[in-house]
Amino acid sequence: SATDFPIITLDGGAATGKSSTARGVSQQLRFLHADTGSHYRALTFLLLRKGISPEESDELTEALEEMKLSAEVDGTLASLIADGKKLSPEDLRSLEVNRNVSSFAALPPVRNRLLRYQRWHRELALEKGFLGLVIEGRDIGSVVFPEAPFRFFLEADESTRIQRRSEEGQEDSVAARDKADSGRKTAPLHCPEGAIRINTGNYTLEEVISQICQKVQNDSDAL
Ligand code: DC
Repeated sequence: SATDFPIITLDGGAATGKSSTARGVSQQLRFLHADTGSHYRALTFLLLRKGISPEESDELTEALEEMKLSAEVDGTLASLIADGKKLSPEDLRSLEVNRNVSSFAALPPVRNRLLRYQRWHRELALEKGFLGLVIEGRDIGSVVFPEAPFRFFLEADESTRIQRRSEEGQEDSVAARDKADSGRKTAPLHCPEGAIRINTGNYTLEEVISQICQKVQNDSDAL
């Protein structure tokens, strides 16, 4: 059945609490955790370093074809390895990446390259002995795993989100990024049909995590 190897999708805007929630859920349920925002960030960092600008070009297509993508699993978290290298959190969350990631993420060749890679995480989770997959992003419940049995959409009001980012010490215009991510043509950010909406500003992190875990445990024979 669809719940033999459960997949949980978490979509939502910037700083709505997706990563902390996914981490907690992955640890409680022994699921693999994939953060697809970090995939877009890694490609953005590497493409900028090659001097490629965020628009469709032959150079972009060529660079994407040449890149070898694999993963490293540390605890429950899978990290992207590009051409044998793992990027640091400082690289992935740099101002330069924050400023350019939405533009690269709007390009179909970039999204297509990552779509195959992201779907492969189901096999990776199985192979590594996890009980399921929790995968977060903007288009996971709508495009990457639309058939996933457990799909959630996280929301939070702007003041909550700005506070979260400033506590993390990050300079990041979350509202501008969400506007770009929601307005693009390919796989825009939106609440997938049938997904459960959670306003994370109304609960503690622990409450959000246990709400999701309970739903999955109630509906899965395997857990
Ligand atoms: O979750 P994050 O803030 O690290 O994501 C960084 C950017 O990556 C986000 O602004 C848009 C893009 N992204 C996307 O287009 N699709 C996803 N599934 C995940 C992220």
